[in-house]
Amino acid sequence: MKYFLTTAIDFVNSRPHLGTAYEKVTADVIARYRRLAGFDTHFLMGNDEHSQNVFRKAVEQGKDPLAYCDEMEVVFRDVWKRLDISFDDFIRTSDARRHKPAVQKMAQECLDNGDIYEGSYEGFYCVGCEAFKQEKDLVDGNCPIHNTKPQWIKEKNWFFRLSKYQQPLLKHYEENPSFIEPDIRRNEILRLVEGGLEDISMSRAGQSWGIPVPFDPTSVVYVWFDALINYAAAVGYGWDDERFNQWWPASLHIVGKDITRFHCVIWPAMLMSAGVALPKQVFGHGWVYFKGERMSKTMGNIVDPLDAAERFGPDPLRLYLTKEIPYGGDGDFTWERFEEKYNADLANNLGNLVNRVAAMTERYQQGTIRSAGGGPLAAIAAENVATYKASMDVHALHEGAAAAFRLISAANNYIAETQPWALAKDPATADRLNGVLADTAEAVRIAAVMLSPVMPASATEILRRLGDSSPASLRRLDQDTAWRASGEKQILNAGALWPRIEADKGVVTVTDETPKPTETVVVVPPVADPAAPVAPAASAAPEVPAMITIDDFMKIQLKVGKVLEAERMPKSQKLLKLKVDAGEAEPRTILAGIAESYAPEDMVGKTIVIVANLAPRKMMGLESNGMVLAASPEGGAAIVLNVEPAAPGTRVR
Ligand code: MSP
Repeated sequence: MKYFLTTAIDFVNSRPHLGTAYEKVTADVIARYRRLAGFDTHFLMGNDEHSQNVFRKAVEQGKDPLAYCDEMEVVFRDVWKRLDISFDDFIRTSDARRHKPAVQKMAQECLDNGDIYEGSYEGFYCVGCEAFKQEKDLVDGNCPIHNTKPQWIKEKNWFFRLSKYQQPLLKHYEENPSFIEPDIRRNEILRLVEGGLEDISMSRAGQSWGIPVPFDPTSVVYVWFDALINYAAAVGYGWDDERFNQWWPASLHIVGKDITRFHCVIWPAMLMSAGVALPKQVFGHGWVYFKGERMSKTMGNIVDPLDAAERFGPDPLRLYLTKEIPYGGDGDFTWERFEEKYNADLANNLGNLVNRVAAMTERYQQGTIRSAGGGPLAAIAAENVATYKASMDVHALHEGAAAAFRLISAANNYIAETQPWALAKDPATADRLNGVLADTAEAVRIAAVMLSPVMPASATEILRRLGDSSPASLRRLDQDTAWRASGEKQILNAGALWPRIEADKGVVTVTDETPKPTETVVVVPPVADPAAPVAPAASAAPEVPAMITIDDFMKIQLKVGKVLEAERMPKSQKLLKLKVDAGEAEPRTILAGIAESYAPEDMVGKTIVIVANLAPRKMMGLESNGMVLAASPEGGAAIVLNVEPAAPGTRVR
């Protein structure tokens, strides 16, 4: 089955930014998913060059416009490559071999069908939008998108009879309910078209930068009429019928919400006029804002996607854009939130899981896993794989990614529950230990396949560590997300995939500090055990400042821990010795001054919060590295803070 997928082609008057990258990344996720699902996929991207802004930019730089566009092609391709965008074809609107004949053919067909006529245009034109504006669209006389005054122009134009297509378009929307997605865009377009359509200008007079109108060499084709045709041009329209018939109609156009109407109204009307089949679907995604603001040069808040890609590789950014923004809705990006999600999803959850499985398999079974054990993870995997497929099939990319992460969290919890480190102590439970490790590794493998469209390089690396080095192109959704109960594998313990990001005075640094599998003693102050010989504490409690900064707070590493075991400390009335899973390779042993409030069995199974980076401190011969958080009433017994079940190791803030 064929799947022909396109993105909007970008204006090249500036470099790609996070917003344009968002579109390409999410389209790439869809393209990779379709390939994984076995579709013969063709993924097209490109550059939109015949805009006045592009022309001006070239002139400003003293360059020939075409030479300027050649340079920009290199810039765009380079950014897309670094973001691991797997496009199959890249078209430019200055392409004289493919694009020019296509545009001229379509203009001619529309003319021949009586849908193009000569007239004169008088009105506003916004060069930023490259669009004619009606007075009612302006805010205080300005274009609301660019906040600039549109030009008043009066020129001879060729018009396209868009008004004629109002009813055919409405009929098409009705008969093809999934033509426009998501619903919010469909409703916008329905309202717009129901309100009536005016004919549009399809040429600009007296300009040289553009494709000449075939029946009027004094004019060039209007940039939008020109640009929309790229989708058909790239696959042969006007220059290779056989190729065109092979790929057309397009399966999906991915475009931003600001340009949905060009793709859902003007483009299908042009195709109807030219007698060409309509694309199957247009998906209008939302916008990414930076701290709630539109990214713009004047605001000085343009986020360069390469900043993130260069620091962490493309995958953490790809994951953020896919998972944190419901596809179809708007989303926000801040570096703080990006780092928070990186630490939560990658450093603590997925990365930690991969490390734990590999480290334990190495330590307990010399790196070898025998056939899987048939524990509860198989059913959890099947359920999440089903949700994943159903979501990805309808472009709910965020839900697909979330399903993969539910499986990852379940695998982490499974380790906490089954305690492989305890099983490893008893030779009688060797088979059970192998079963736990095998099941967990199998869950990780399936999650990696599910995430492969989102994080292609990371998925390949995880699969390699799990003993599967086959090329990505050979993976197949159904067979590779099915639970494999047998098969010996060699697991590679190759270190942290995603070291935690530590925020340090607003400057982000990546540390390679990974939690050490040490025995840790955590104490709840101020309920100290009088029986316990405590290392000399600071002479007086430090004064608590009335106010601290977020940076001060972020120095404290609070983590979710799950209490696995608890026992009374001999010779102590106040201390319980806890074994806590804090998402590390091995559980921590924690001494907490809570024995007066809790019996050991009360504590087992609780999900608590610990301070994970407190300086070590010796108590009763054991070293204390942190604390259990508890409410500590004056003179009363400690009340341990419980949290809703969350994956051990999850950062608390
Ligand atoms: N050249 C036209 C598209 C022609 S398609 C036949 C154009 N170019 S653009 O460079 O301005 O935008 C390219 C794509 O990026 C559009 O789909 C647009 O919606 C999208 N985005 C631009 N800024 C964006 C965000 N901040 N967030 C998400 N997408 C954004 O329009």
